[in-house]
Amino acid sequence: MKQQLRYSTWIRTRKIVALWIVAGAFFVSALLALITPWFLLLVLPGLVFAYTGLVVTWTYARFSSRGGNYQNKIHDLILSYRQSQGETLDIGCGNGNLIIKVATSDKTATHLGLDYWGKDWEYSIEQCRINARIEGVDNIDFVKASAARTGLPDNKYRNVISCLTFHEVRDESNKASVVSEALRMLRPGGTYVFLDLFDDKKYFGNIEDVASAIAGRGCTVMVNKSIRELMKLPYPLNGKKALRYARLISGTKSASG
Ligand SMILES: C[S@@+](CC[C@H](N)C(=O)[O-])C[C@H]1O[C@@H](n2cnc3c(N)ncnc32)[C@H](O)[C@@H]1O
Repeated sequence: MKQQLRYSTWIRTRKIVALWIVAGAFFVSALLALITPWFLLLVLPGLVFAYTGLVVTWTYARFSSRGGNYQNKIHDLILSYRQSQGETLDIGCGNGNLIIKVATSDKTATHLGLDYWGKDWEYSIEQCRINARIEGVDNIDFVKASAARTGLPDNKYRNVISCLTFHEVRDESNKASVVSEALRMLRPGGTYVFLDLFDDKKYFGNIEDVASAIAGRGCTVMVNKSIRELMKLPYPLNGKKALRYARLISGTKSASG
């Protein structure tokens, strides 16, 4: 099979296909029942699924290079807050876009992309390696582990970054503790940059819990801004189901750890 550069967007294509199949099934059934009372009962859910399919497809397009490249723009935003060169850990690296960008621009160190690459996502460690090879970077490793308990050493990385991963971690209900685990691996004096749905109470509850997790690891907060303060998001990315609750939090670990 031909090896291709593939980063994939944060929207699973399986989800888009499933939504359109269900919408199509309702419409076909409604057509078959055209002159019966069943028509309305079938066409209405068809319209709901078609509308959802449209919004999700549009979101997918906006993230991709053909529709504004917002996924790439958000990765560049995160990297603009990474303050210093040096060994960087990306937690939940997906297909490696963010950490490959780091490795391309910072040859002073070997960097690490961590993910659990579950079957519910369209990412894999193999695709990360293919992407790194095609991009011509060899100062990068990938490791399979859960962000909830990585098994990596304390205080090792000069930079720890993460994009839209903490809220996805299923094996730990307390997402603030996943943030704490990420900061455990940050070296004293090092910088962290996290972008996640921190304003969504469904995932993070009280944002003060995240602040306590950060302080509990001896870290300061230097930037704490909603994504809407940092970049203009078009519809539908500015919606609640997309990035309305996204926030970038960045800072450093005190030199004494
Ligand atoms: C929205 S994607 C973001 C991917 C990548 N950070 C990016 O910006 O392209 C969420 C990522 O979290 C990863 N993930 C989910 N649960 C995880 C866990 N328990 N440990 C590590 N990674 C996890 C998924 O595999 C997926 O790659």
